[in-house]
This record gives sequence, C-alpha cells and structure tokens, in this order.
Amino acid sequence: MTHHRAPISLLIDCDPGVDDAVALALALAAPDRVTLLGITTTAGNVDLRRTTRNACLIREIAGRLDVPVHSGHARPMTREPVIADDFHGPDGLGHYPITPLESGPSSEDAISFLIQTIDSHPAGTIDLAVTGPMTNIAVLIRQAPEVAKRLRQIIIMGGARREGGNITASAEYNVYADPEAADICLNSGCKLIILGLDATHQVRGTQGWIDAINALNTPLATLVAEMLAFSNALPANLVDTAEPDKPAPGAPLHDPCVIAYLLVPEAFTCQPCQIRVETQSELTRGHTAVEFRHQIADGFNALWVTQIDATAVLDLLLKYLAR
Ligand code: BDR
Ligand code: CA
Repeated sequence: MTHHRAPISLLIDCDPGVDDAVALALALAAPDRVTLLGITTTAGNVDLRRTTRNACLIREIAGRLDVPVHSGHARPMTREPVIADDFHGPDGLGHYPITPLESGPSSEDAISFLIQTIDSHPAGTIDLAVTGPMTNIAVLIRQAPEVAKRLRQIIIMGGARREGGNITASAEYNVYADPEAADICLNSGCKLIILGLDATHQVRGTQGWIDAINALNTPLATLVAEMLAFSNALPANLVDTAEPDKPAPGAPLHDPCVIAYLLVPEAFTCQPCQIRVETQSELTRGHTAVEFRHQIADGFNALWVTQIDATAVLDLLLKYLAR
C-alpha cells in the first residue's frame, strides 16, 4: 500500500536523554518529510544546561545548524526536579563524548519562541512533539491558550496504562517529573496523541538493529547506535521495569516513537480515551488513569496508542540514518 505523505512542520520539546537523542536524530535526518522549525529544551533526564547542550550537540552531529535550539524551563511547575541520570548517564548521552559546541542555543527563551512560531504560521499546520516532562508546554498553554490551540496536534511520550510505571510502581517518568504540567496539557482541549509505556515497550533496540545502524558508519548513525547500546547495557531492572527478572530483548525506544508516529502513522493503532493524571497522592503521583469506556461524562481528551508495528519504526530509523 502506498500512502500520501503530506509535509510535516514540526517543533520538538525534549530533555535529551539517550532516547530523545535518537528521536532528534530521526527528525533531523528526514528533511524530505519534516521541516523542523525548532527544538526546545526542558529540564528532565538531566538538568537544563545539559539537555540544551545535548540538543545543540546532536544538531551539529546531524549537520543541521539551520535548526534553532531554544532553552526552556529549568524546573517543574511546582515540584523539585527529578533527574533520571541512572537511565541516561551523568551527561544525559550515555558515554558519548561531549565535545565543545560550534554554536550554542538561541538567546530567545523557549516559550516566546514557541508562541511566536506557532502564531506566525497558519492555524492547524504545525505539529508539536513532546519527549520530556511537559513543563514548557504547560507554561505555553497557561500563557497563550489560543496560540496552543493553533497547533495541528501534540504528540506526547508519557504515561502508562497496562505496563505500570518505570520511575515508580505507578508512574512513567515524564508525567511523574511534572504531573501538574501533564495535567494542564491533558485538560488543554488541544488534539493530543499519547504514547505511553504500553506502546513504547513494544519497540526494542535489539542487538541486530544496533549492528545494522552501526554499520551505516555515519556520525549520526554512530551516535544512535551508541545511545541504544548504552540503554541495553543498563541493569536488567532498568532496561525493562515491567519484567525486571526476564532478560530484555533490548531497551525500549520511547521517544523515537513520537517522530515515527508522524512519519509512518499507519504503523500505529490508537484508541480514543479520557486520560487524567494523579497530582494529589504521593504514592501514585503521576499515575495516568486511561479510560476507554464511552459512558464517562466529560468525554475523550486524547488518542492513546495501543499498538506499534516495531519493525516499521526500526526500518524507518535505518532508512533515514542511511542517508
Ligand atoms: C521517558 O522518560 C525519559 O527518561 C525518556 O527519555 C523518555 O522520554 C520514558 O519514560
Ligand atoms: Ca525524554
């Protein structure tokens, strides 16, 4: 089957992060399909200084200095920062060597950049991919709700339903790190596609894929192969938090799934849902209650991804990194 491929105008908000790095690599390697208008960064996996530097480094490796990087919020809306450097290494990119940057982030902050960019394009033409805690997006929605509604859709990596959490028993990291921000996004009225752990745990960077990517032997492919290999070498209970006693076939590629959703939507199965986030309890902080039943009073607010054709996602990565 051939699919009509409309051009994608994209903003990415992220906290690189080894799997964010792979997501960025995929988007940066696909200029034939994706017009990447900018990358905004948030504190998350590591602090804001590092996530911003990592985003700048990745665009350099991709040879894409044309894509601006804008630094956003250094702290969650109300909580203390929660870093996840046991999953990502102290610098956020595993053992990847952090070399001096050719060029740093733009001086304009992420929120004003987002507002200005969304406002200066026709409504319904820009997609926003979110692969970190949702702080920047919540601030955007608070400051300029009508501007946020001009987005065509927001595709978010966050939450869990069947799989349980990966940072606590109840919660997935991006939602846990800033549950108040997630709550604002989920109640925004924007069109939302949510890729939780139920979806991303289906896509694994197994050794065969790593070898194939590594063999491409370009700077970007080498970076991606190193990111995947770093995640696979983590202790088993971090590689797969759902089944800690079983040797995992490879670590999940959470964030790249967000970009793949845009490039090959036919590889994704979605179900309309009402998704709400726990902000009150300490025990279940950041838990996502994903409701499929139709009788709920206030209706559905998102599409929840239930299934991914993992081979299609990994093929896509291989195809673009080969360029
Ligand atoms: C999410 O948390 C982060 O550690 C990853 O980069 C991903 O965005 C997975 O729970
Ligand atoms: Ca991330």
